[in-house]
Amino acid sequence: MDHDVKDLALAGHGRVRIEWAGQHMPVLQAIRERFAKEKPLQGWVIAACLHVTSETANLMLTLQAGGADASLCASNPLSTQDDVAAALVEAGIPTYAIKGEDNDTYYKHIHAVLDRRPAITMDDGADLVSLLHKQRVDQLADIKAGTEETTTGVIRLRQMAADKVLRYPIVAVNDTPTKHLFDNRYGTGQSSLDGITRATNILWAGKTVVVGGYGYGGRGLAMRARGLGAQVVVTEVDAVKALEAAMEGYAVLPMVEAARIGDVFITVTGDKDILRREHFEVMKDGAIMANTGHFDVEINKGDLRALTRETREMREHVVEYTLEDGRKVYLLADGRLVNLAAAEGHPAAVMDMSFADQALTTEWLTKQDNLSPNVYDVPDEIDREVAKLKLSTMGIRIDELTPTQQAYLSSWQEGT
Ligand code: ADE
Repeated sequence: MDHDVKDLALAGHGRVRIEWAGQHMPVLQAIRERFAKEKPLQGWVIAACLHVTSETANLMLTLQAGGADASLCASNPLSTQDDVAAALVEAGIPTYAIKGEDNDTYYKHIHAVLDRRPAITMDDGADLVSLLHKQRVDQLADIKAGTEETTTGVIRLRQMAADKVLRYPIVAVNDTPTKHLFDNRYGTGQSSLDGITRATNILWAGKTVVVGGYGYGGRGLAMRARGLGAQVVVTEVDAVKALEAAMEGYAVLPMVEAARIGDVFITVTGDKDILRREHFEVMKDGAIMANTGHFDVEINKGDLRALTRETREMREHVVEYTLEDGRKVYLLADGRLVNLAAAEGHPAAVMDMSFADQALTTEWLTKQDNLSPNVYDVPDEIDREVAKLKLSTMGIRIDELTPTQQAYLSSWQEGT
């Protein structure tokens, strides 16, 4: 077998969990049924680097149903669900991922999907695209196009395009409304609090929760933490977002002030050093820190270690850092994505839309011949189709414009 997941005893467990997730992904299911009939991806080799979860498995099975030769590696060393990986292998989808894999194995697995000579890449965080451009340049000519799932990846790709080094077209799936308005907000909000709750079993009511970053992920976190009875403090560098947070009723503070009062800190910015030495120095005894941004750079672990006298594992995913002055602070999931490391990531019902966008965008890309290397938006028709399908699977009907309303909107002369 050309994969690294050998414990096929896990596969049965994974198969049922994939089926359960699939039951909450009706839009993707409808696409899968059409793909199985029409085979729009017949002959396409697709390399995906995504979180290996039961939701991703449903996407991979959809690509396979469409005729693709699809393989998968992990987009994060801690997010893999091993039973799902085993079930995918059993289903004939080469899957290279082991939960907790070290850095070398993580990159070996990205190389493994690239060894299959893909024509389409599907990335979450742009590690696969970055490795291709840095170490496998000879292969770039084989690649027709790609997709990118997350904000951090899109930022990296836009920088590559600005530096004129991006060598093939990539669609920023993250940026389409049916993705980020739902997945980033409701998915991150719920699953991150789920991860922190599973790891710690803390009571949220009455806590002061500091949310670092008020993008869609931060909005979801703040909203759900407030819903659980927490006092929410938002930190931001963007004036418009800070204003929005303030008018939403949250306290807005510089992190160095928030650091003194927070009980729980959650970073979700996409940048590094959101929590660093100057913040650890003033935190309360017992403060808990978690990150839900893509990379484990948001909480500066080097700074934390430098201030630390001793560490102790309190529970799975909870490490106590006793600082030189005796205060104890807690880091969850080693500063990696807490929602995927300590819980199961975003719920299937929201990944339904993100992965429907991925599947339909991939189908669309196979038909494009004139895209130059750049970062593209998901076509509007795809976004609208996903929204309509989702509404209909939720049993929600909406109004249509009357002809008179339509005429009013398309005329600049009618004012009153
Ligand atoms: N990103 C966040 N949650 C996810 C999930 N459940 N599956 C795949 N990718 C994710």
